Amino acid sequence: MLVIVKDSYDEMSREAARIIADRLRKKPDLVLGLATGSTPLGMYKELIRMHREEGLDFSKVTTFNLDEYVGLPPDHDQSYYYFMKENLFDHINLDPRFVHVPQGMAKDVDAFCGWYEERIRRAGGIDIQVLGIGANGHIAFNEPGSSLGSRTRIKTLTGTTRQDNARFFASMEEVPKFAITMGVGTIMDAKELLLLANKQSKANAVRTAVEGPVTASCPASIIQMHRSAFVVLDKGAASELTGLYNDTWESKIFP
Ligand code: PGA
Repeated sequence: MLVIVKDSYDEMSREAARIIADRLRKKPDLVLGLATGSTPLGMYKELIRMHREEGLDFSKVTTFNLDEYVGLPPDHDQSYYYFMKENLFDHINLDPRFVHVPQGMAKDVDAFCGWYEERIRRAGGIDIQVLGIGANGHIAFNEPGSSLGSRTRIKTLTGTTRQDNARFFASMEEVPKFAITMGVGTIMDAKELLLLANKQSKANAVRTAVEGPVTASCPASIIQMHRSAFVVLDKGAASELTGLYNDTWESKIFP
């Protein structure tokens, strides 16, 4: 696990985009795991800039998003598909045939989840998976208590997560109660993980994930078991870490 602390959100975002661009240049048909939420927005902006100004080419890339609300169609302005379209898909040259977001309107959710897992396998597995972290330590919608071996499935959202997300909906009642999410095991199968966190409000979750024991009470702590995980933070999110994290990573990522 490589912890990289940057001075600001913008620097964190640029660093994360640089890691993805490096992987993409080395493997044009990269299988990229994507996340929604406010955290990766700056990284997506930087990837869009790289596409426009530096010709970063996504035409052969396959993407898999982590999660989607159950019951929201793709054109609902709070669906994660819509979020991805607005903030990334519409601005780069992805082939729509290679883009995957869990289907919140799937009639048979269990069958869909099995298909999603199979689709990831057939794509050769995820090369690099972008992750945010919830203030309660969740990754994707794997809330505290989720099995660390779980696969893509339907999950009930906790009150905390629904409250965190209520700001995007007209009322608390409209916040979905269920989501389809990749499991912790699905995420751990990715060849590399790229977990981003910014702001002081994430500092406790980051400390628990990076320095605490590995426990289902903080699903993000499983990254300690991954062979190749990057944790890119701004100063606020890193503020409760007690370990010393050196900056020798440059030579590891860009040899
Ligand atoms: P955020 O959400 O990026 O909006 O903070 C992250 C998460 O809950 O996983």
